[in-house]
Amino acid sequence: MEKKIILTKEITKIYKVGDIKVNALRGINLEINEGEFVSIMGPSGSGKSTLMNILGCLDKPTSGFYYLDGINVMDLNDNQLAEIRNKKVGFVFQTFNLLPRLNIIGNVELPLIYSRREQSRARKDLINEVINSVGLAEWIKHKPSELSGGQRQRVAIARALINNPAIIMADEPTGNLDSRTGEEIMAIFQELNRRGKTIIFVTHEIEIAKHSGRIIYLRDGILCGEEKVKEPVNACKMLENMPKLEDKINNFSNNNSNVI
Ligand SMILES: Nc1ncnc2c1ncn2[C@@H]1O[C@H](COP(=O)(O)OP(=O)(O)O)[C@@H](O)[C@H]1O
Ligand SMILES: [Mg+2]
Repeated sequence: MEKKIILTKEITKIYKVGDIKVNALRGINLEINEGEFVSIMGPSGSGKSTLMNILGCLDKPTSGFYYLDGINVMDLNDNQLAEIRNKKVGFVFQTFNLLPRLNIIGNVELPLIYSRREQSRARKDLINEVINSVGLAEWIKHKPSELSGGQRQRVAIARALINNPAIIMADEPTGNLDSRTGEEIMAIFQELNRRGKTIIFVTHEIEIAKHSGRIIYLRDGILCGEEKVKEPVNACKMLENMPKLEDKINNFSNNNSNVI
């Protein structure tokens, strides 16, 4: 039988702002199996980030039940919540959330510092291996300001992978990227999923959602439908037919050679 890595029952989230209550989530029932690639779609304000924060143990629901890998999250205190988050979940955000003063190595090793693994040769090897796996081996000493948007997001993915979490959660990770770079990032997520990671993805672009195996629709804090994707878009295949930035520039100068 497949293992339910995420199981929620009637989750609600109410934000209180002064005297006003905002019902951000209004009874979410969600099941996600280990190894699935699920995307959550919905318009702005529908509760996607709120749901993601709860699923990733960054925040707790106002009511309901949440079991993460069989653990009842509602019973945990803040320290226990931080511990389970660090162990089980890697996050990737739209705005990358890197520390500007640290180079790639420094950014990628941050979650290791929080999880207090000892300094060692093995630790260095692990950091290098994860940075290699996202194709940034030649850039390890560079700081985020010296990298492109796509490279920054690769650093964020490496950071998310460093504790070898079972689940990767990403909140609009391609939102700030051009379409080719976005596709490259999707190729990385698809490869991670092939290697067994559970991936949960928030997006408001259907083209991006179609890279996943199942799309869940959220509206006004309620799950209002879901769809199995019969043939998910293969990011590597898409990339074969997408021009690289250098190709675009070459084409431009070739086509305009008479003019210049
Ligand atoms: N920290 C907060 N305090 C008060 N209201 C919030 C907070 N975060 C989100 N909301 C409100 O909750 C609703 C859902 O927001 P959010 O989860 O960010 O939606 P999405 O990510 O789909 O755009 C919105 O009405 C938003 O204004
Ligand atoms: Mg959001």
